[in-house]
Amino acid sequence: MFSRFLHKYLALIVAVQLLIWLSTGLLLGQMHSAPTIEKRVENGVDLSENDEELMTIKQLLALSPNAISIELVNLLGKSVYRVMTEYSKHEQEKTYELYDAVTGEQFNLNEVDIRRLVTSKFQFTSPITNVSLVQPPFSELPKEKSPLWKVAVFDEFSTHIYLRASSGDIVAVLNENSEWTSLLMMLHFMDYQNAGSFNHWWIKLFALLTLVMSITGVTWLLQIMMTKPAVPGTQRTKKWLTVIDDKEAEHRIEGRVTDNLLSILQRNKISIESQCGGSGTCGRCRVVIKPTDPVLTADRYQLSKDQLKAGYRLACQRVVGQTSIVRVDTNTLLQTISAELVNNEFLTPFIKELKFKYHSPETFVFRPGCYFKFSISKGKTRGCPPDLPRRFRRFWPYSERSSFFHPSVTRYYSVANRCEGAGYLTFNIKMQPAPSSMLKPGIGSHVLGNLGIGSVLEIEGPYGGFSLPHDFHKKEFVLIGGGSGIAPLKSMIDELLFGLQVTQSVVLFYGARHPIDLANHNWFKDIETTLTNFSYCPVVSRASNIWFGATGHVQLPLRSFLEAHHAKDQCLFFLCGPSAMMKDVKDMLIDYSIDPNAITVEAFASSTTHQV
Ligand code: FES
Repeated sequence: MFSRFLHKYLALIVAVQLLIWLSTGLLLGQMHSAPTIEKRVENGVDLSENDEELMTIKQLLALSPNAISIELVNLLGKSVYRVMTEYSKHEQEKTYELYDAVTGEQFNLNEVDIRRLVTSKFQFTSPITNVSLVQPPFSELPKEKSPLWKVAVFDEFSTHIYLRASSGDIVAVLNENSEWTSLLMMLHFMDYQNAGSFNHWWIKLFALLTLVMSITGVTWLLQIMMTKPAVPGTQRTKKWLTVIDDKEAEHRIEGRVTDNLLSILQRNKISIESQCGGSGTCGRCRVVIKPTDPVLTADRYQLSKDQLKAGYRLACQRVVGQTSIVRVDTNTLLQTISAELVNNEFLTPFIKELKFKYHSPETFVFRPGCYFKFSISKGKTRGCPPDLPRRFRRFWPYSERSSFFHPSVTRYYSVANRCEGAGYLTFNIKMQPAPSSMLKPGIGSHVLGNLGIGSVLEIEGPYGGFSLPHDFHKKEFVLIGGGSGIAPLKSMIDELLFGLQVTQSVVLFYGARHPIDLANHNWFKDIETTLTNFSYCPVVSRASNIWFGATGHVQLPLRSFLEAHHAKDQCLFFLCGPSAMMKDVKDMLIDYSIDPNAITVEAFASSTTHQV
């Protein structure tokens, strides 16, 4: 995904630069910037006409011991030795001394000399208005690093002539068009710092970006070729797919061969779970196809070896053209309910609690720990919700104050209460501010976080297998959560302690970054005070001065708990939180010889696909 994102933006940059090259190249071809005055034909030094005896090179070297090269030139009608005293590859960096070739006297050119020199070298009738010695840097001649004489001519093009101060050489004849030419040259050669050459870091950076764009483009192309038919035009070809549900009923559905298998199943109302929005990270969208069909990386990561052998694959990772018969386990409890928002408040700086009242249907039931699907239409929503309490304001970036447009999206959120017949659904939704000003905030969380009381939504569910078992009478419950992963655990605690009123021990380990990030903290503390079979162990990784609880990661107090527990085999473990944390915790439990069947995990798919 990142390479596609990168490729798109790099392609935009390269396309803009190509347009600049094209347009400036065309304009430069059209622009008339040639000198508007003509040069006279120059005569060299004719020694035969010179009666006077010139000084010898030996004598000259005695006067100028640092001479690198010596040239005899005709300057203002007299013979002059032009001696180079400093060498460089570039003419503009060389320095010269001038000596009268007869007397050996060293001299510098003055204003009168320059006027005569210009008049002798060019044919023009307009008067010279100004002659001045100017010092670098020169915006018109960025390469020049030594003093120049500037001669301004009063003509219709505002011609001005530059001569090198040390040698009297003509450096440039410019006019009013030259400024435009320089600007176009600067854009054409990306010489934004007026270095006067190609050898600058803008060009190198652009070359590097173009290389990265090419590599990401090839990567993307290979990905497309691996998932789409190679024959051009076949993308539009349709085919029929046979879908067999868990009651052995057959459904015939039609789709384009390039349609995503998960999308086509959902579009045809075949209820199949998907928590990560099709990114291959939740493992919910499993279907059965031919066991010989290729196993992709996401399949291997999300499914066990036995499942792969039995033909299980992730529907979101396939296209219709890759299969003909699909077996699915449909969710028979699934219903769409109409729910009205009755409360929307911040629990922590980023977690909001949304409480919905649903009116229909009567038969609707859900199990604690399940999650629901929210279909959000495209539109515009606010950044930071207006009801953000003053005490949380410092946590929100300033850029979040503005609104933004968003496409239609589907998001899934875990329920945070039990099904008690009163007709309420509560969700703890973590708001995801934009990671930078270039990116948008989480769409789902911002749309829902900004919903007004009284808004009515269509919510589909329940989804998910993260729920309490039916038979647990001899068990003890250990729940481990992180961040907004507390929502399904809270619904389980609600069900166990207030719905089922169990007498077994229920222990909650809840990890967050700061004490202020612990959602429902007071609710858990209150229950711990009133019910003897509930223990609450909040853990923060960044404690404040007034925090007296555990610090670090949840693994620390959990390890102590496991060390001290003598009947670990009587415990059921429920884990929900960031996937890295859940993996660590699960590995630790297995190290303590906990039966994997006693561990139920609900990991966040990723910060961008789950609960955003
Ligand atoms: S929808 Fe396929 S893995 Fe999540």
